[in-house]
Amino acid sequence: MAEVVVATAAVVKLFGPRRAVDHVDLRVGRSEIYGLVGPSGAGKTTLIRMICGLLPPSSGSVTVLDRPVPREFRAIESRIGYMPQERAVYRDLTVAENLTFFARIYGLDVKRIKTRIAELLALMHMRELWAQRADRLSGGERQRLSLACALIHDPELLLLDEPTIGLDPALRLEFWDHFHSLSRSGRTILLTTHYLAEAERCDRVGMMKLGRLIADGTPEQLKEQAAMGRESPSMEEVFLRMTQRPTPTAGGAR
Ligand SMILES: Nc1ncnc2c1ncn2[C@@H]1O[C@H](COP(=O)(O)OP(=O)(O)OP(=O)(O)O)[C@@H](O)[C@H]1O
Ligand SMILES: [Mg+2]
Repeated sequence: MAEVVVATAAVVKLFGPRRAVDHVDLRVGRSEIYGLVGPSGAGKTTLIRMICGLLPPSSGSVTVLDRPVPREFRAIESRIGYMPQERAVYRDLTVAENLTFFARIYGLDVKRIKTRIAELLALMHMRELWAQRADRLSGGERQRLSLACALIHDPELLLLDEPTIGLDPALRLEFWDHFHSLSRSGRTILLTTHYLAEAERCDRVGMMKLGRLIADGTPEQLKEQAAMGRESPSMEEVFLRMTQRPTPTAGGAR
C-alpha cells in the first residue's frame, strides 16, 4: 500500500458492556477511497469518530497522518475534513455564513474564503441559495452544505459519514465523480454508506458487523471471499451473505 494515512490497531470502543467497535485493524492508504459498510449499529460511526479524535478508544491505537489520535489530533486537525452523520450546519446562519464560519475556523484568509465559497457553491449547485438560512433548506440541500463545509479548507483526508444518503440519484453520481477527482488529486477518503452500488465504486471496502471488521479488500476480492459459487454476485448479495452468516467468536479471552 502507498503511504498509510489512517491506521487503527486492535481498536476497541466500549459503551458500558457493549462493544461498539471490537478489535478493528483498519489501514487506509493515500488517495484511496475506502468504504465502510455494515448493518445499522455495526460500529461504523463510532470507528470514524475515534479516527477524527472525537471519541477516545477504550483500548488499541489510532494513527492518522502519522500522529497518535486523539493525543496529537490538534497537530493534524486542519488537514482533515469531517462530515458527521448528524449534519453539522448552523440552522440560523445562511449558506454563505456557514461556509465562512468553517473557513475562519481553519484560518483561511479573506481572499481564499471568497474563492473557496464560490467554487463550492458552484460544485454543490447552490449558487442561488447563498443567502438562504440553513433551516429553510431542503434535506438534500442541507446535506450538500454540510459536505461543502467539510471541504472548505481543501483537506487531504476526508471522513464522510453517509455523505450521499438522501441525495437524488443524479446528485449522488456527481458526488461520486467529485470523490474520484479528489482521490486522483491525492486526497484520501474514508466514507460509510448503505448503498452497496457505491461500495462497488470504492477502491477498497471494509465490512463491519457487531463492531468487528469481518472482511476487507477490493470489491472484487470481497466477491471472491463471499464464495457465492457463481461468476459475479452483486455487492448486495455479498453483503447479505457476509453479514448474515454467523460470525466466529473473537479469540475466546476477548
Ligand atoms: N454514545 C453512545 N453511547 C452508548 N452507545 C452508543 C453510543 N454511540 C453508539 N452507541 C452504540 O454503539 C453501536 C454502534 O453504533 P454506531 O453509531 O457506530 O453504528 P453505525 O454502524 O454507524 O450504524 P448506522 O448505520 O445506523 O449509522 C450501536 O449499538 C449504538 O447503539
Ligand atoms: Mg452511523
